[in-house]
Amino acid sequence: MTETHYLERPDNRDLRQIPGDYGLPLIGNALSLKANPLKFCDDRYRRYGAVSRFAMGPSHIVLALGPENARELHLDVAKNFSSAKGLGHFETLIGGSLIMKDFEAHRFQRRLMQTAFKSSSMDGYVEHINAICLDTLRPLFDAGEFKLGGYARSTLLEIAAQTFTGVTGQGSEGARLKTAFEDFIDGFTFIFEINIPGFKYHGSLRAKQYIAAFIRELIADKRRNEDEDILAHFCRERDENGDYFSDYDIVENFVVLLFAAQDTTTASLVNACYELGRHPQWQQRMREEARALGKETIGQADFDALPSFTMLFNETQRLHSSVPLFPRRSINPCELSGVEIPADTLLMNAITYNHVMPGWWSEPQRFDPERFERGEHKQHPFLFHPFGGGAHKCIGMHFAQMVFRIFMFHIVTNYEIQLRPGYDPDWQYLPMPKPRDNLPLRLVQVG
Ligand code: HEM
Repeated sequence: MTETHYLERPDNRDLRQIPGDYGLPLIGNALSLKANPLKFCDDRYRRYGAVSRFAMGPSHIVLALGPENARELHLDVAKNFSSAKGLGHFETLIGGSLIMKDFEAHRFQRRLMQTAFKSSSMDGYVEHINAICLDTLRPLFDAGEFKLGGYARSTLLEIAAQTFTGVTGQGSEGARLKTAFEDFIDGFTFIFEINIPGFKYHGSLRAKQYIAAFIRELIADKRRNEDEDILAHFCRERDENGDYFSDYDIVENFVVLLFAAQDTTTASLVNACYELGRHPQWQQRMREEARALGKETIGQADFDALPSFTMLFNETQRLHSSVPLFPRRSINPCELSGVEIPADTLLMNAITYNHVMPGWWSEPQRFDPERFERGEHKQHPFLFHPFGGGAHKCIGMHFAQMVFRIFMFHIVTNYEIQLRPGYDPDWQYLPMPKPRDNLPLRLVQVG
């Protein structure tokens, strides 16, 4: 009898031999994980050790904590772990994209993206990113209190419309596209696939249809013209045989960018501004570096002269990881931290917990960007891994940091971030960490 391929097999739910508990009937441990993933991980680490079982609704999952388990899951030298099955919940939305492919199929899809994220291609996006940041921020300077979350999200949608497709977000076509991008992203919080008008999942599927039709219309032109946006690079990329990628591959890998890029980068901007509001001395330090450049806009060549920006980005990711958890599913029986893991078992590692894990970091909860200058994060290659690692390492890592630096440059050069006195927000932790009230603040001119 031939063995069923791992992609066709159901999840293994029998984790009896693994320490842990399944929480409440029906919902399992979902509420405590959602309420505070850090506390959830810390409680389980102290009670059960690095590897424990828990439940999210009907799914039985193994939580494998710590940098060593992160290394096992990310690098996957023995080819034991599947991303496709780990992210199976999102199959209908991004199932054809690289993030949901394993091994050879993944390598094939990743090739489609390679030129778009080369440093030389990214130079082509810089001017648009500077212009859009300035346009959206200018009305907020000295304009009283506003909520940064909404503005940052809208700025990034505008950047996506322009740099991903070449369409400016200003006109009606751009506005429709931005709305479709937003509807598509909003659907990813679904629990059940309810495809009925009024439900976000339904909105997401409809938005995907709109975006797919929009992109298909452009493909032939993008191959002929010399556009320098990300979609144009995807369209002109060729596989090992010298053939263009199919329309289906282009669409699926385009929409996954929205899922992977938008809210992750928004969270990094919002949470960095929160930390800067609480630590004005860091604003001053960044302002001095920014002013020393003597420029109105910046590009990749300037980034080395902005080391405080890099430290701020890292410390913000450490304290508020934009991707708090990452999933996989085992393919074969294997071992993590000495615990036997059966085949077909859902697994999770918590980037957010590794970033503050006891025993590794000095005063882990303290905002201290200089820890990156001291090299505290270098104790283990997967102690600080906001962008993952191994084959699926974030392909937009440099793009995200480029947007971050440009956006922050336009704020700190002449303006001070001021939070409400005594501001102490209620935090949302999943799917991404951010103050629930979207961070009300003021940008006040400084001499
Ligand atoms: C602060 C911002 C960001 C963070 C923290 C982040 C983090 C991550 C992480 C942890 C992964 C690996 C997931 C896994 O191993 O399962 C990943 C993958 C990915 N990211 Fe990002 N990301 C960010 C921004 C971006 C941006 C701006 C883009 C594109 C413009 C992007 C595109 C992708 C793609 C396409 C993948 C899948 C790569 C693959 O499967 O080979 N990300 N990201």
